[in-house]
Amino acid sequence: MKVLKNYWELGCRVADIVEHTLALPEPKLILPTGSTPLSLYKELVNRDLDWSTATTFNLDEYVDNTIQDQSYRYFMWENLFKHVNINEDNIYFPGDTAVWPQMDYGVGVDLCLLGIGGNGHIAFNEPGSSFESETRMVDLTEETIKDNSRFFPTIDDVPTQAVTMGLKTIMKSKKIVLMANGEQKLNILNVAMNGEITETVPASILQKHKNVKVYYCD
Ligand code: PGA
Repeated sequence: MKVLKNYWELGCRVADIVEHTLALPEPKLILPTGSTPLSLYKELVNRDLDWSTATTFNLDEYVDNTIQDQSYRYFMWENLFKHVNINEDNIYFPGDTAVWPQMDYGVGVDLCLLGIGGNGHIAFNEPGSSFESETRMVDLTEETIKDNSRFFPTIDDVPTQAVTMGLKTIMKSKKIVLMANGEQKLNILNVAMNGEITETVPASILQKHKNVKVYYCD
């Protein structure tokens, strides 16, 4: 695990990896939302990189979300896509079921960026998700709904379901970077990366991947 000086350093170091990936021919990336990747997206926008041949897949999207500016599509548009030269036809969200087979059956993703939830989830693969899971609709746990309520007017506005890329799908990526920000994530990071590999801690599946980097700052 690489421990970074601060949140901006976290964004810069992961931006270096994204920059390297974008230099590949027709790069394919899986991208996260949430508060953790904000410094990364800011840094990427500042670097003014060439996204013209890139294809991106987002990890997850709420179902039946009534607060439009909390949709993950909106988040990505505001924080990254509207600022770079990506081709809109190459942006994919799992809310669109037509995209699921493309995600699941190996388009050869070069880089998958992940955050981690307080309960060990990656994307919306909540504890108990099968290591064989593919893209699907899921119920969110009470803990996740509570965690995400900080982005919504009231907890009752937080969607209770989402579509998420599965654990098996994520594991097909050639390279994975897990980002975590804040001391409250240290314990679950330690459990996920050094503890038992179990479906109770979805992120623990990453121990089985050959090319994973973990970047943390408090
Ligand atoms: P966060 O969410 O970046 O807002 O902490 C991470 C996650 O729940 O996967």
